[in-house]
Amino acid sequence: MEKVAKEIFYEIKRKLKCLDRNRLIHTYGVLWAALNLAEKYKQNLNEVFLVAVLHDLLREEARKKGDILKHGEYAARWFNNLVNKKGVVEKVLKSWGIKVDEVCEAVSCHVLGEGCNFIGKILFIADYSEPMRKHKEAYIVWRIALKNIDEAFLKSKVLKRVYFESRSRLQRLNGE
Ligand SMILES: [Fe+2]
Ligand SMILES: [Fe+2]
Repeated sequence: MEKVAKEIFYEIKRKLKCLDRNRLIHTYGVLWAALNLAEKYKQNLNEVFLVAVLHDLLREEARKKGDILKHGEYAARWFNNLVNKKGVVEKVLKSWGIKVDEVCEAVSCHVLGEGCNFIGKILFIADYSEPMRKHKEAYIVWRIALKNIDEAFLKSKVLKRVYFESRSRLQRLNGE
């Protein structure tokens, strides 16, 4: 049974290898930040590892379909299908501390931060403030996250919305 569950990670690895260099570097940054927060807030590291690695895996597919804001949902669905396809693995994953529903929920919510569970909050903050992010707000959010996760989550959610709004305003101005 474990062998079948491990195959899931080989599938993820295959998909990871298709990411472009920048997306891969970002994913490692998210992984670093998310694991640090998971340790601090005593969450299961296997589960947090998985959500970080999965979160942007289907970004390009979603972008091509004009659905970029839904790339978290694409990734969650892909993972869920993978688990179902492999049959009995859900039980094995659970024995490693990985709950499939929790993972899917966290990955789905990471773009806008709506309806996040606790590991979803960790992922959202890590995505916003990972070390490769160059804007100063990323560092501010990271410092807050080390003291108060809810405050950091709310702050990064507001800042991300402001960013999305200004970006779509700019796209409208450019006639895109
Ligand atoms: Fe993303
Ligand atoms: Fe990301």
